[in-house]
Amino acid sequence: MPNVFSSLPEKREGVFANEDALKPEFIPDALPGRENELTQIALALRPLAESAGAKGRNLFVFGPPGSGKTASTRRALKDLNEYSDKAWCFYVNCWQYATRHAVFSQLAFLAEEPLPRRGLAADEVFERFAGAVRTSKKNAVVVLDEFDRLLQAGNDKLLYDLARAKELSGANFTEILISNDADLLSKLDARARSSLQPATIEFKQYSPTQLKEILLERAAAAFHENVLSKEALALCAACGAKAGGDARVALQALYDAGRNAEQRGARFVELVDAKKAVLEQEVMSASKEKRLTGLTRLEESTLSVLREAGKPLESGELYSLLEGVASERSLRECLNLLQLKKLVVLEEKGSVTGERGRTRLIKLA
Ligand SMILES: Nc1ncnc2c1ncn2[C@@H]1O[C@H](COP(=O)(O)OP(=O)(O)O)[C@@H](O)[C@H]1O
Ligand SMILES: [Mg+2]
Repeated sequence: MPNVFSSLPEKREGVFANEDALKPEFIPDALPGRENELTQIALALRPLAESAGAKGRNLFVFGPPGSGKTASTRRALKDLNEYSDKAWCFYVNCWQYATRHAVFSQLAFLAEEPLPRRGLAADEVFERFAGAVRTSKKNAVVVLDEFDRLLQAGNDKLLYDLARAKELSGANFTEILISNDADLLSKLDARARSSLQPATIEFKQYSPTQLKEILLERAAAAFHENVLSKEALALCAACGAKAGGDARVALQALYDAGRNAEQRGARFVELVDAKKAVLEQEVMSASKEKRLTGLTRLEESTLSVLREAGKPLESGELYSLLEGVASERSLRECLNLLQLKKLVVLEEKGSVTGERGRTRLIKLA
């Protein structure tokens, strides 16, 4: 028998040159439409690069989801790191680390400060982190992204801890708080707020033209040359515009469009691929009620038959219950659409049953 690897069918080249360039954690080279905001962040942080003990300006960054807050801030940190070895940058997402203790532990971890396994109280963990910063004699910037997550249960007291550490221990921090909520500051613990006194940077939602520029830039890194149709890109940008100028939604649609093209075995990303991606996006974001409006007659009948049955049905059973209403073929198409709209779940039942072909089990979602 020949070597199984050398006898595999030839590897197809897909549409992606580097699909990671469309992933949320990718830090793009260019941030079209955010040049001013990036400059403002850099101006606030510039003192950190200049002399030991220098303080930057605390910042409050807010704007709607997908408006580039995280990407711009991370970009500023990356550039600051490259520009100067006087600054030490810490980035924590508070959605991921959702308590004062968890944030401090992550900060200590990022500062490479080993913590004993027996566990330490939050104050002690913080002391380790502050100690590491103090010893380093560097100017630290602490970014707390999605800070709204810390508003509950007094976790926002950690801002006060940071301020006090500056006074008492001589460790030097500049803080950046990021949130979707424009009113975040007014919800902070009073002491925390007065210790922060930040300058505010607002990120506005992207215009449709800006979203197109963003997608063009990212697509150039993600796809092979000349594989993405203009129409497909425009549709993905429009999808982000409709979602409130959200670059994340637009990029996800573009990524899914690429995947759809590869799944069809195509070498080009066409409008059909984007249409499918956008439909899926809309389905994901629409509430179930909204998904239930605008159904075809057949889709409605199918759902009501399933509801009446009160249990999952095999495709054969469903077909006989709808006999005369729909052909087997149109029922199959209808089921695929209902699955796409996340209203039913289709499960392959493995075995091939005679002439009927593969049996599927159909459940309401
Ligand atoms: N101006 C831009 N240029 C390129 N990509 C961008 C731009 N703005 C946002 N993105 C990308 O869009 C996605 C969402 O941006 P993000 O910064 O996470 O939004 P926010 O933090 O405001 O919710 C990320 O993948 C990010 O890289
Ligand atoms: Mg963000």
